[in-house]
Amino acid sequence: MAVKLGDTAPNFKALTTEGEIEFHEWMGNGWTILFSHPKDFTPVCTTELGIVAKMKSDFDKRNCKVIALSVDSVEDHKSWIKDINETQGTTVNYPIIADTDRKVADLYDMIHPNALNTLTVRSVFIIGPDKKVKLTLTYPAATGRNFDEILRVVDSLQLTADHMVATPANWQDGDTCIVVPSLTDDEARAKFPKGIEVIKPYLRTTAQPNR
Ligand code: BEZ
Repeated sequence: MAVKLGDTAPNFKALTTEGEIEFHEWMGNGWTILFSHPKDFTPVCTTELGIVAKMKSDFDKRNCKVIALSVDSVEDHKSWIKDINETQGTTVNYPIIADTDRKVADLYDMIHPNALNTLTVRSVFIIGPDKKVKLTLTYPAATGRNFDEILRVVDSLQLTADHMVATPANWQDGDTCIVVPSLTDDEARAKFPKGIEVIKPYLRTTAQPNR
């Protein structure tokens, strides 16, 4: 069964490069990004795990932990991390799950046999402090992910969780936001003191409320 938006993220125990974890306990009260990659010692994955290490402080600022996963062993992960650090000019600073029995991959439906027989595809799950799944993404093996986009989504998820706005196409932190349809114009004017612009009755914008 695929994990869907709004589901509680399945809990599990797993071995990682930073020791054994129980996922819900490890997540704590903040946000989490769980992302899988197909295999250790592969080129695209090497660049992805390097970029995530370089961006770790950006995720930290957003109270968002990151954890990677593939079906290789802890020993392989640790050996590969040396290559990632050397070739990507970074230090891997987050855990990688060793899902050798594919327990987590099956729980999260990360193996898509018509794409890759027994390996995990490039899945991303963003999980909120309430342990509910807020976003899922699936990329094929040959396409590395854009982690700037994933950071942008975290900004939108955190903003829209706290304020009655939505974010338009290509929105970036600081841009104009959309007023949610459930608010009347009067309610929106009261809620957003910087004002609202009514372009159509269903298309209303306001300045980003937490800026
Ligand atoms: C890669 O990370 O480069 C990769 C992994 C599995 C299949 C193809 C490419």
